[in-house]
Amino acid sequence: MEFLDKIVLHQSAHHMELIKYLLILTHFLFIGYTGLLLGSVLISYFFKKRYDKTKDEKYYLNIKKFIDLATFNKGASFTFAIIPILSAMFGYSQLLHLSNINFAFYFIWSALFLFIALIFIYSFKYSIHLRDIFSLTEKSNVQLDNLKSEIEHYKSSTNLLYDKSGLYGLLILLVSVYFYSIASQLAVNLNNWNPNRSFITELFSINSLTYFLLFINISFIITSIIVLYKYFRNNSTEKFETEEVKDYLKNFSLKLLLSFSAILPLIIILNVFSKPVLSFSFDYFGGTVLFILLILFVISFTYLMIKENHLKFITTILLLFSISLFVFVNNEQSSFDTSTKSHFAFLSNEYDVYEKNLKESAGLIKVAINGADIYNGKCIACHQFDKKVVGPPYNTVIPKYEGKKDQLVKFILNPVKKNPDYPSMPNQGLKPNEAEAVADFLLSNYKKN
Ligand code: HEC
Repeated sequence: MEFLDKIVLHQSAHHMELIKYLLILTHFLFIGYTGLLLGSVLISYFFKKRYDKTKDEKYYLNIKKFIDLATFNKGASFTFAIIPILSAMFGYSQLLHLSNINFAFYFIWSALFLFIALIFIYSFKYSIHLRDIFSLTEKSNVQLDNLKSEIEHYKSSTNLLYDKSGLYGLLILLVSVYFYSIASQLAVNLNNWNPNRSFITELFSINSLTYFLLFINISFIITSIIVLYKYFRNNSTEKFETEEVKDYLKNFSLKLLLSFSAILPLIIILNVFSKPVLSFSFDYFGGTVLFILLILFVISFTYLMIKENHLKFITTILLLFSISLFVFVNNEQSSFDTSTKSHFAFLSNEYDVYEKNLKESAGLIKVAINGADIYNGKCIACHQFDKKVVGPPYNTVIPKYEGKKDQLVKFILNPVKKNPDYPSMPNQGLKPNEAEAVADFLLSNYKKN
């Protein structure tokens, strides 16, 4: 992705730190929102299958309860899902500049797939709500004939949407999340720092696969927490058709939360093992332990709520899980930092050189001037200390300048005719500070010879 290399800004180590913090926030937003989206689409698709098979109304009501969770506003979906992917891509292009890793390819495809998936998912959502409207108009016995045929027409296309869009949206969303998993894990493994690595090897890397599994697991947890919080917290205004539907949804979500948070520690450990040793650090292990501990709290609170048949702790769980998600994202960033340490040293060195050149060209720092270098570069062709070349040997002409450096500098800057036995010396075009440095060099070296 050459265009990304072109827009990279030169950055100091401090700027890179800042970008890392922004990346943590970006991943947190992305996993939080897209996790909810994925979880809610997966579960509502599951209920759709059940409803299609059994025609049991309570399943149908649950399709709506879930699909509405993350699709409350198209602008929000765009802001929380697509923008984070693009900003992660720009963030990594700064941090992984000159690294040969093709992460941008996966981010761009992830964003594209996500965009298409959102279109299908919103179509699925609207198809369900339209079906409701059509069945209402049927019940209310609309008499107008041409309106009837119009409705008939839209009803069949709505049914087609209802049938297909959920599945397509779900599959494309999964592909998008998988590409995101590859992109965000790519730099952690140094084996990937090879531009010739094939797409297929990348697709099946253990590292990205476990991260993907982890993502799905987290999606179920986020979704069940949000369902419980949105529909069942103390001051929730949600209306349910019947008590049975309400109880069903409550028990279903609690069990979902308990089972997926119970497997999470296992997948976390799997995730640790799938990472290269090079990405490990003390911080990383500390973060992993903290994350697992927080999840154990979530599990215990959920278990208590199931056992005592209430939902008192749901706000606590929401808070606990948000913190754990933050710990997790921060920890992933820490493994990224450890693996890419040497690359950062390289980049910040790059920056130091860049900064020095910039300051030099702006005249902010003096270039270190070395008299010996100037002698070797500009004078040696005509002068030696002990031999006559084109000009006189320094050992014979410099002694008269002892204690008169000013005059020597003056001569070097503007040579005048001195000795009839020699031709005149051509002006060497030195700057005053260069003439001074070479004069110092001559004065301190002729004695030794
Ligand atoms: C192209 C040949 C040439 C180069 C290059 C050259 N010089 Fe000379 N230099 C001469 C000649 C010829 C003389 C004798 C001039 C005279 O006596 O009029 C001379 C004379 C001198 C003298 C003696 C002046 C005196 O008072 O007798 C000094 C000191 C000197 N050069 C310094 C330098 C330094 C320093 C450089 C390099 C920055 C340099 N020269 C480069 C040809 C050269």
